[in-house]
Amino acid sequence: MREQHQSVEDDIVIDTIEVVEREAKPPVVERAPEPKPIKTLKDKAPVTHVVGQTKVVAIINQKGGVGKSTTAINLSAALGELGKQVLLVDLDPQGNSSSGLGIEKSQVKNCVYDVLLSDVPIEDVIIPDVCEGLDLVPATINLAGAEVELVSEMARENRLKDAVGSLRGKYDYVFVDCPPSLGLLTVNALVAADKLLIPIQCEFYALEGVTKLLDSMKRVKSRLNPTLDIFGVLLTMYDGRTTLSKQVVEEVRGYFGKTVFSTLIPRTVKLSEAPSFGQPITQYDPAGKGAQSYMSLAKEVVQRG
Ligand SMILES: Nc1ncnc2c1ncn2[C@@H]1O[C@H](COP(=O)(O)OP(=O)(O)OP(=O)(O)O)[C@@H](O)[C@H]1O
Ligand SMILES: [Mg+2]
Repeated sequence: MREQHQSVEDDIVIDTIEVVEREAKPPVVERAPEPKPIKTLKDKAPVTHVVGQTKVVAIINQKGGVGKSTTAINLSAALGELGKQVLLVDLDPQGNSSSGLGIEKSQVKNCVYDVLLSDVPIEDVIIPDVCEGLDLVPATINLAGAEVELVSEMARENRLKDAVGSLRGKYDYVFVDCPPSLGLLTVNALVAADKLLIPIQCEFYALEGVTKLLDSMKRVKSRLNPTLDIFGVLLTMYDGRTTLSKQVVEEVRGYFGKTVFSTLIPRTVKLSEAPSFGQPITQYDPAGKGAQSYMSLAKEVVQRG
């Protein structure tokens, strides 16, 4: 609105500001959804496709914080969306895969600990359909005692292998989210697995500790699991703006060659936020770069067989 004010000295044009009062909107409060109900296998939706040969894949790297749990959750969920039947076994006392899929750990009665140490059948601890096509064997803090308690047990390295053996033919993929150590829990994963998926973070000293991991793999392969092999190496938290990330990609591809997946997992805020909403990235931000990259990884995994 413009008003013209005549004054003796001058013609001044004054802009008057129109104040429009709007109703204040309540602030948007993002809240995590309610925890998922703890179902049992008898509530599982019928499987409508013929399940292929089960592949047991341990997601492993004794280095902490490289993206094991993020990959376990999001790759499993992406494969479920592609129509595969997937089981994720949370083998880490931190239970990040369980909480990241919306399971309230205090509500879990029996967890993977009870399978490894109390002879509870694995079928009794499976929580079915935490996402489309995805079942979960949860971990609770009880699992923290397992490393020590397993030491005095008979056939202590074979516990997970024996449990997972009964599930062959029921799932296309069984993923195991390993803890950041090379203790007895990780050895159980190495013995139970057909293949290893090794996430490597694009950062300084990316390959640090890898030789030790490969030594453990070789030792288990020669004594307990002769067909164990690497399924793929996955570069995580890639930031295309930094030369460091590009150097790490080159270095890791130089070291591992074709085993490295073509898909690079970018560093995105959404991927780090999704677990606090108990959702995989394909639900939390389906159109974003994180979801696209884990979908692309899932397709590569299917292609590799
Ligand atoms: N691509 C990504 N972009 C952004 N943040 C990420 C990404 N991947 C993982 N993170 C974050 O980095 C941290 C470590 O990731 P994650 O828990 O998956 O690693 P981990 O290897 O399972 O760790 P741990 O060894 O403790 O089990 C988490 O806070 C996670 O949200
Ligand atoms: Mg983890």
